[in-house]
Amino acid sequence: MIVGLERADDAGVYKIADDLAIVQTVDFFTPIVDDPYQFGQIAAANALSDVYAMGGVPKTAMNLVAFPIKQMDISVLRRVLEGGLDKMREAGVVLIGGHSVEDRELKYGLSVTGFIHPERLLTKKNLIPGDQLILTKPIGTGIINTAIKAGLVDEKTVDRVTRLMASLNKDAAEVMHQYPVHACTDITGFGLLGHVAEMVEGSRCGVLIFAEKLPIIPETLQYASMGLIPGGAYRNREFREGMIEISPSVDRLVQSLLFDPQTSGGLLIGVGKNHAGELLAKLKERGMDTAAIVGEAISEPKGKIIVKA
Ligand code: CO
Ligand code: CO
Ligand code: CO
Repeated sequence: MIVGLERADDAGVYKIADDLAIVQTVDFFTPIVDDPYQFGQIAAANALSDVYAMGGVPKTAMNLVAFPIKQMDISVLRRVLEGGLDKMREAGVVLIGGHSVEDRELKYGLSVTGFIHPERLLTKKNLIPGDQLILTKPIGTGIINTAIKAGLVDEKTVDRVTRLMASLNKDAAEVMHQYPVHACTDITGFGLLGHVAEMVEGSRCGVLIFAEKLPIIPETLQYASMGLIPGGAYRNREFREGMIEISPSVDRLVQSLLFDPQTSGGLLIGVGKNHAGELLAKLKERGMDTAAIVGEAISEPKGKIIVKA
């Protein structure tokens, strides 16, 4: 075992030969969008993401399904599974099985197995002072999802954000593999700073975040100003408050986005200064046009995150 419970990371890693380790992860959740096909896509993209975040290539997957068969038409489940399967095809992943149970609420996700060379493994924990932090997807899906549930978001925006959540981190991972990256994670339920905090905890450095450089889904600021901030964002903030210093000049609405729980968020990549510009340019070439350098690892203060405007 190379990565297991005692140093929890995005996925577990088990070495089976000198040049091969398997990466294993599992994730499932309740619907966050109304359309069952799109929900299937998002849930699959989200589950696959942890393999990409470790620097691995996903190979096989198994469906995890909870379904209220007495209350919901079976065609709904069929659409969810189709959405998941299409994402697996796009990722080059083979579906090899699964398991379903009856439940009061629909839930869907995957257990995923990927391959990685043991020496090319990327954990959260090897940031080096001077490293640039590149974020590959804009943040704000938690706030948008809260606004969608309140019926306040127009169809066009729902569609755009749904596609964003359903997009794989595959292209980002492929670009990342071309550079000597030091650390990586994906941004999910703990929000941007929650996941940065995990990186900081395992590295001997601190992190500076440039609030004005953060890629943000534009509509979120308006919804945040209406108070449509998910409960998870407050819990995330409370949990990490002790290690975070936010400059008072950082816009209050942007502050509320720092802890916004993301669904199937982007990769956060730590790479040396000399490679960061080129890596970012390659991401943009591959269509990730909002990707940005959002921070930097600093030698002091260790174990802290400083957010400046
Ligand atoms: Co993760
Ligand atoms: Co996960
Ligand atoms: Co079974």
